[in-house]
Amino acid sequence: MSDLVVRRSNGLRGTMMLPGDKSISHRSVLFAAIADGDTVINGFLTGEDTMNTAKAVVMMGIGAEGLGTDRIVVNGKGLDGLSEPAGVLDLGNSGTGMRLMAGLLAGQDFFSVLTGDQYLRKRPMARIVDPLRQMGAIIDGRSGGKLAPLAIRGGRIRAIDYTSPVASAQVKSALLLAGLYADGETSVSEPFKSRDHTERLFRFFGVEVQESGRRVTVRGRQRLRAKGSLDIPADLSSAAFFMVAASIVPGSDLTIRNVGVNPTRTGLIDVLTAMGADITLMNSREQAGEPVADIRVKHKKLRAVEIAGNVIPRAIDEIPILSVAASYAEGKTVIRDAAELRVKESDRIAAMAAELRRMGVTVTEFPDGMEIAGRDELNGAVCESHGDHRVAMSMAVAGLAARGETVVRDASWIGTSFPGFERLLHESTMV
Ligand code: S3P
Repeated sequence: MSDLVVRRSNGLRGTMMLPGDKSISHRSVLFAAIADGDTVINGFLTGEDTMNTAKAVVMMGIGAEGLGTDRIVVNGKGLDGLSEPAGVLDLGNSGTGMRLMAGLLAGQDFFSVLTGDQYLRKRPMARIVDPLRQMGAIIDGRSGGKLAPLAIRGGRIRAIDYTSPVASAQVKSALLLAGLYADGETSVSEPFKSRDHTERLFRFFGVEVQESGRRVTVRGRQRLRAKGSLDIPADLSSAAFFMVAASIVPGSDLTIRNVGVNPTRTGLIDVLTAMGADITLMNSREQAGEPVADIRVKHKKLRAVEIAGNVIPRAIDEIPILSVAASYAEGKTVIRDAAELRVKESDRIAAMAAELRRMGVTVTEFPDGMEIAGRDELNGAVCESHGDHRVAMSMAVAGLAARGETVVRDASWIGTSFPGFERLLHESTMV
């Protein structure tokens, strides 16, 4: 239950390296486990979420050397190499961990139980349980399978052509993973294109994936081939906190190296650019099938924008920190079409509205978003994390340009996705 104390900064400067991408880290260890041969994963995120996924894989008989460091070696045993875990698989706080794991387990001819912490056990699971049952998996859980813990008896999976009501990479990835174990082709369509790390990493492991518009198809029983090493870029969702910090704190000029800039994730860059931010992408290149760049951000006064429609799934995890950017922008920012935020690690609309109000911001909540009236200066305050890493980091950044002191209570949740955040925040504000 540690508190994080932040004071006004006079600029973030220098060059920084950040931890590996969370979405790609989860996928890398899951896919490497069912590949033929060893994979060296460089830049693996050592946050609690991805460590829990790695530990679950180890509980199914897969060797993983170097666990706890950012370089792990996974001894893949092939498509049918997992064995029945002797205990419950605990995915902690991670929706990605639980939903992708459920898809993988649906394809296994054994029994398994998935659980998570008090927050994850409240998050909707029907979105994966329903289609996985249609594919033939036997799944039980609380409230008839709407909530974890989930018990899964997999195997004998049928291919499916599924239209998801939500744009969700977790749903898409769970079904594509299960689809690897089916005879025939499994397709998933979604209302907007969600992040495509699964598709890219499948291809990296030699699995053919077809895409046509917002429909993705994979043929079952394709084997994954280990490729030696896999380099994971830094997480744009972690960089987001420093990008907004550098934008709102006068005197800032910050460069973040080697950040993943997959176009299905770069809504943050588009929105900040529309707000007038000074952002430059340099040294654009590709790494393990993912676009990567160095990002330089300088302070610039921001202006309000409307954030809605197609950009929402491309910026979904960055709405909390964008609401901080909006609080320091000139004019009223409106966020719409973001009802999914209510079922994340916390209800992020309610949480951000409550915490920004403590700092003097006028926020109007809508069922699917909020309106934020920007100010020149916020008041330091004692804020709550709501058990949510991104809310905690957002409020810490808000404090960097606020009057007086800001305290983020219960900030240890930051460790689920961004180990070392506090140290980096202090280093970059002191150079
Ligand atoms: C993720 C997908 C997104 C995102 C989450 C990570 C992933 O969730 O919010 O932080 O790695 O697949 P949804 O797929 O539920 O939108």
